[in-house]
Amino acid sequence: MAASARAAGPDAIGIGLLGLGNVGSAVAETLLAGPSGPAETAGVPLELRGALVRDPSKQRPVALPDGVLTTDPAHILEDEGVRVVVELMGGENPAFDYISRALRSGKHVVTANKEVLSKRGGELLKLAAQQDVSLAYEASVGGGIPIIGPLSDDLLANGIVSVRAIINGTTNYILTRMAEDGVDFQEALAEAQSLGYAEADPTADVDGFDALYKIAILARLAFRTEVPIDAVYREGIRRVQAKDFRYARDMGYTIKLLAVARREQGGLLARVHPAMVPSRVPMASVNGVLNAVEVEGDLVGPLWLQGRGAGPRPTASAVMGNVIRTVREMNAGGGPAPARPVTNGLPLLSMDEHVSQYFMRLEVRDQAGVLAGISGILGDMEISIASVIQMDVDLERGVADLVIMTHPAREANMQSAVDRIRGLDVVVSLANLLRVESYETVG
Ligand code: NAP
Ligand code: HSE
Repeated sequence: MAASARAAGPDAIGIGLLGLGNVGSAVAETLLAGPSGPAETAGVPLELRGALVRDPSKQRPVALPDGVLTTDPAHILEDEGVRVVVELMGGENPAFDYISRALRSGKHVVTANKEVLSKRGGELLKLAAQQDVSLAYEASVGGGIPIIGPLSDDLLANGIVSVRAIINGTTNYILTRMAEDGVDFQEALAEAQSLGYAEADPTADVDGFDALYKIAILARLAFRTEVPIDAVYREGIRRVQAKDFRYARDMGYTIKLLAVARREQGGLLARVHPAMVPSRVPMASVNGVLNAVEVEGDLVGPLWLQGRGAGPRPTASAVMGNVIRTVREMNAGGGPAPARPVTNGLPLLSMDEHVSQYFMRLEVRDQAGVLAGISGILGDMEISIASVIQMDVDLERGVADLVIMTHPAREANMQSAVDRIRGLDVVVSLANLLRVESYETVG
């Protein structure tokens, strides 16, 4: 049952890697681990026949046999001996092109690429079904956490009510440092970059795109509904300040970047934003680079999965799980299991329809009449105040922090109120507006 390089014997299954970076190197190492490695469970030897890179002169953490490293995609895509293509390059293009070419030529594909899956997944899954090959993507969401598998198979009997997750390790690391040690966003981000968690351009992580891609993938699967990425509400974590954590803690909350897809009001609402999470619920204790996913099904009730959402080895665990399963299905001769059909077509709701409590932090002039102006606007918009607390006062500037917690209100009303409150003379700035995540049904 050896996993090795070329010349593994006529019964070996050929594997081609598109990408040999952080994840690709860990996958190659696993493939080359030999008879005692994880690939043994495939039931036949796995033969690494090609590994595509841009720069062949780069130092790699894994030593490949001669003839495997290539800069030519045809070396893999046009090799009839390659039966399973593993795409670990990232990005929409050329990944979409290469995956399509592989599927069209009858090869099975395993990918960890959330961007291509969230933007073009519908087309690719359809193509895979037409070609009677499999397209597996466990590693695209939650790194090593098995969530695509359960949603595709084990939970098929359920009507899924909600999927709520922390699915970006970089932002969770930053928010944890801010919460636990009071460091500011910029300092925590610089630290995450120096530790290799955040990208050199951290936009995809801190502005919520990475989490958006992942929740769009989970939502399509869980709710059998196409969820285009521009239908997902997105807000990143740049506005969260250390003092928000201090005030949140005093009120019994912490702050997390949540990605949520929930069936509500006859439709589906998908959203990514920083949220106040009650300190008592498990999600509040998911710290550092850990990820967690909470699924609620109508039969099973709430489920909870937590683990390493990124990193070469956890991600290789998910990738290799897909490779091994694909090979076992090939050996069994029955063809791939059909993908969960995307047949529900739930209406996609706008964030305007969302209802939640809000935490509003304002910098206001420390003078009489301030509250009357703000509460008047909130009252006009049918938003009821749950509590008002005056926090830090800057005597030199004559400015105070005012923290208002509302009762549940409609997002559209809240946004209209916020526009008007910003225009008040007594308001120096509306420093932050955070939604309070409701844990009435799960937690
Ligand atoms: P990476 O370290 O940047 O590696 C990308 C690899 O792809 C490199 O070997 C690169 O070649 C190659 N590549 C990129 N574009 C190419 C092109 N146009 N032609 C040929 N080769 C190309 O990325 P990674 O962190 O391993 O991530 C790979 C995938 O896994 C991404 O989709 C990512 O979202 C996903 N993922 C990553 C993690 C994680 O923890 N890193 C977790 C879950 C999912 P060179 O080496 O020559 O530059
Ligand atoms: N940048 C991602 C994260 C990597 O921080 O979670 C895993 O997709």
